[in-house]
Amino acid sequence: MIGVFDSGLGGLSAVKEIHRIMPWEDVIYFGDTGRVPYGTKSPETIIRYAKQDVRFLLTNRVDIILIACGTVSSTALEILRGENEIPIIGVVKATAEKASRLTENKRVGIIGTTATVKSNSYDKELKALNPDIKTMSVACPLFVPLVENGFIDGDIPYLTAKHYLEPFTEFGADTLILGCTHYPLLSGVIKRVLPNVKLVNSGAESAVHLKNILRSFDNGKKGRTHYFVSDTKDAFVRTASIFLDNELCGDVTEINIEQY
Ligand code: DGL
Repeated sequence: MIGVFDSGLGGLSAVKEIHRIMPWEDVIYFGDTGRVPYGTKSPETIIRYAKQDVRFLLTNRVDIILIACGTVSSTALEILRGENEIPIIGVVKATAEKASRLTENKRVGIIGTTATVKSNSYDKELKALNPDIKTMSVACPLFVPLVENGFIDGDIPYLTAKHYLEPFTEFGADTLILGCTHYPLLSGVIKRVLPNVKLVNSGAESAVHLKNILRSFDNGKKGRTHYFVSDTKDAFVRTASIFLDNELCGDVTEINIEQY
């Protein structure tokens, strides 16, 4: 059983890829919809929330956890690994590896939440992979609320994207890391602002990485996914289908995450 969590809906970009490449796997997804966003909070708060999220997933007997959240992966990965016995993977490594393979001019842009950008996690990983790579990072704090509210195209997301992303043109980035798992939903407006830049989807890349670690193979079964949220189910169900590009298949349960 694979456990996946995020502050809200963003991690569904990883679940969508898990369904596509490992449809036989069972998944437990937790979206902390009652406390989203994480990316504007302090490292102490993010770590406290992440520990509770992991404790909740462990009560469901998961064998491995994918932190489908750039913010938690950048802030709490090592702490969570140190405290738990099961394997825990984040999104930063696989995403940076993909970007380092894609860039031709060695100029990689990074967008993420405020906490992720402050941590320099993607920059460090990229530089470790190839010291010649130049990076530029921009925090995009308005993107998560836009996505959580279903604003993924039209003037408001477009103008917001233009505001955040225009500096990447001057920088000359040929590759842009969508360092927050919510951002793939804004790919349409991001491409309108940066039409010639290759986008790297952190949710999808981490699912591919997960498959390699699990050495998962088709066992002929149809996997099941159970969704848990920390706020009302209705809003989650409505927006989740946009993320998954499909109707939500699987039940949704509301839990009180403060109990964990
Ligand atoms: N989807 C998350 C990330 O990848 C968190 C966004 C947030 O809650 O601020 O960073």
